[in-house]
Amino acid sequence: MTQDQQLERRFDAATFREVLGHYPTGVVVVTGVHPDGDPVGMVVGTFSSVSLEPAIVSFMPGVGSGTYARLRECPALVINVLAHDQTDVCRTMAIPADDKFDHVGWQPSSTGAPVLDDAVAIIHCRLDQEVLAGDHYITLCAVDDLEIVRPVTPLLFFQGGYGGFNPKGLSALGDGDFIEALRLAETARPHIRRLADRYGCEAAVLTALSEDEMTTADSAYAGTAEVYERLGERIPLIPPIGDVYVAHASQEVQDAWCAKAPADEEVQARYRRRLETVRRDGYSVVQVGAVGAVQYARMHEALEEYASGPLTPSRERAVREVLSEMSDFFEPIDICEDTRYDLGSIMVPVFDPGGTVAMVLRLTQLPQGASAHTVRGWLGALQEAAAEVSTSLRGGESSEVLQAYRSWFMM
Ligand SMILES: Cc1cc2nc3c(=O)[nH]c(=O)nc-3n(C[C@H](O)[C@H](O)[C@H](O)COP(=O)(O)O)c2cc1C
Repeated sequence: MTQDQQLERRFDAATFREVLGHYPTGVVVVTGVHPDGDPVGMVVGTFSSVSLEPAIVSFMPGVGSGTYARLRECPALVINVLAHDQTDVCRTMAIPADDKFDHVGWQPSSTGAPVLDDAVAIIHCRLDQEVLAGDHYITLCAVDDLEIVRPVTPLLFFQGGYGGFNPKGLSALGDGDFIEALRLAETARPHIRRLADRYGCEAAVLTALSEDEMTTADSAYAGTAEVYERLGERIPLIPPIGDVYVAHASQEVQDAWCAKAPADEEVQARYRRRLETVRRDGYSVVQVGAVGAVQYARMHEALEEYASGPLTPSRERAVREVLSEMSDFFEPIDICEDTRYDLGSIMVPVFDPGGTVAMVLRLTQLPQGASAHTVRGWLGALQEAAAEVSTSLRGGESSEVLQAYRSWFMM
């Protein structure tokens, strides 16, 4: 850039990044096998299609990227388009390490270049041309073959946080607060993955979007837990839902929450007691039991209807009514030695440095008929994880994958 052009520039680097961070990208992993025999992979948000005749795609690696220096020597490349549930793969491949490919599932393609398991689509190509463009290359690749492997929604990256198209929660995904929620959830991600694996259940991070709604910012599944697309799902803060969050909020928020339940004195007293217990115990347990299974399923249907998008006032009232009938599940329980427990969920709060609930960690789809010892084990592990996430928030640590993204994006 000449000095004249420099003088004409009416923005600084921070503005450049800030503005361009408002443009979302997909996430791909470009892979190849180096002539020395080692697989190579790089996470790239700048992938794009360029031309049909001839078929050309492109991506833009930084000139200083050591990974790209090896990738450009690979005789063939594969572009792996990541799916919304592959944040783990994105993390593994974005953090510098020699053994990245030991931690993700992959198969060699006919050229040897790694094809990652569960990617949405794969594009087989070869590097054709490189154009130097400032501190990046525009790398043009000739396409040899391509296919859709798993037609699910792709992973998105936006303002330093993950996102995804979610047919259920599209409005939440466009929200600035949702981006913050995703950022927070990223800190808790390794913990929920570990908890899900350890107990063979579903583990999730919930964050509040407003005083009326929470959202599922991330979830992990293991064992027999059924996999749902929950990212961005809206959850109403209507009694008895959201007690862990509300119990530690201001008196006004607690009052507003109780006011959404029937005005009946007994019902109101019950919810106030519930909040007190949750505050005292530091967790919320929902007990279903064999008899309650049908009712519990109704509650989930109501929550799903709520999550499906803004409801008409009458439908919202109906959903609220169904939920308000569910208070039995939310009665406090004592954990006694010779009792077996059928739990619907366990939730614990994660506090930010200011003492506010930043997010909630939740275990669901837990094995039924659990002993007191097992339930205490779940609670202890969840509370330990919450304390660790809380400490990370205090230290202002950002996750390694965001550091990788920032160090590239900020260069
Ligand atoms: C979502 C996401 C998108 C990224 N997009 C690019 C990109 O388009 N170009 C690039 O050079 N690096 C990009 N990076 C950073 C690289 O993946 C990563 O920092 C790099 O491979 C680190 O190692 P290296 O400097 O040894 O190559 C991205 C990272 C993330 C998490």
